[in-house]
Amino acid sequence: MLDNRRFTLIAATLLAGLALAGCGKQAPVATPTAAPAARVYVVGTDAAYTPFETQNDKGDIVGFDVDVVKAVANKAGIEVKFVNTPWEGIFNALGQGDRDLLVSAITITDERRQTMDFSKPYFDAKQLIAVRTDAPVTRFEDIKAMKVGVQNGTTGDEVVGKLQGKSSGNIKRFESTPLALKELEAGGVEAVVADNGVVVHYLANNTKGGFKTVSDASFPVEHYGIAVKKGNAELLARIDKGLDDIKADGSYDKIYAAHFGSAPK
Ligand code: ARG
Repeated sequence: MLDNRRFTLIAATLLAGLALAGCGKQAPVATPTAAPAARVYVVGTDAAYTPFETQNDKGDIVGFDVDVVKAVANKAGIEVKFVNTPWEGIFNALGQGDRDLLVSAITITDERRQTMDFSKPYFDAKQLIAVRTDAPVTRFEDIKAMKVGVQNGTTGDEVVGKLQGKSSGNIKRFESTPLALKELEAGGVEAVVADNGVVVHYLANNTKGGFKTVSDASFPVEHYGIAVKKGNAELLARIDKGLDDIKADGSYDKIYAAHFGSAPK
């Protein structure tokens, strides 16, 4: 079945064709000298992840990841456009070709590597636990019997699943990380496990205190990568080269400092 937009497009094309035929004119033919229309690469991002990706008041998608990809695209000589894409469908959108690239603080994991390809790592992160200041939590093990909020399908979800058992009724899975953290504030969950940068930023900017963070030596270092559709080696090579270039010329460090206050250690 045709959707409305498509129908309108077809109708408009037919009308334009009739109009041209009516005046005996021919549709303009591109001359060989005309520059080919620049391809715009569509970048999917779950823009509810400050300071990595957020939608500002004007609706623009901004953040560290966005600046990194813009700088990489600039070096690679490609045009990019960011499209807010819910985490839940983000990997499918890439697989189906609705997005050319994903940047979304995505941790490179062996499991994900089976269905998509990743750039070189561009940022390191770790899981971090957020709890009320008075909670008896000093290590990961301490939240084993607690109600824990995570963003569905993230590495936070994965580690808590390992601790409590994947099907534990105490794991509350949210569509976004801010929703999980709001639920912690509201008292609906007793802990949240999520990427350190986002947890720290949220607690500092959205709450009036009363929460602490707890890290645990068992949490592995996670590397964020930019994802492309599996097998898209040509685009991946350009992205990797762009990453090398922005690291070499200092622009990566500038972007880092702009979002995190100081240059990376
Ligand atoms: N780094 C974590 C993962 O890859 C969480 C990423 C969530 N990103 C986002 N924009 N919501 O699973």
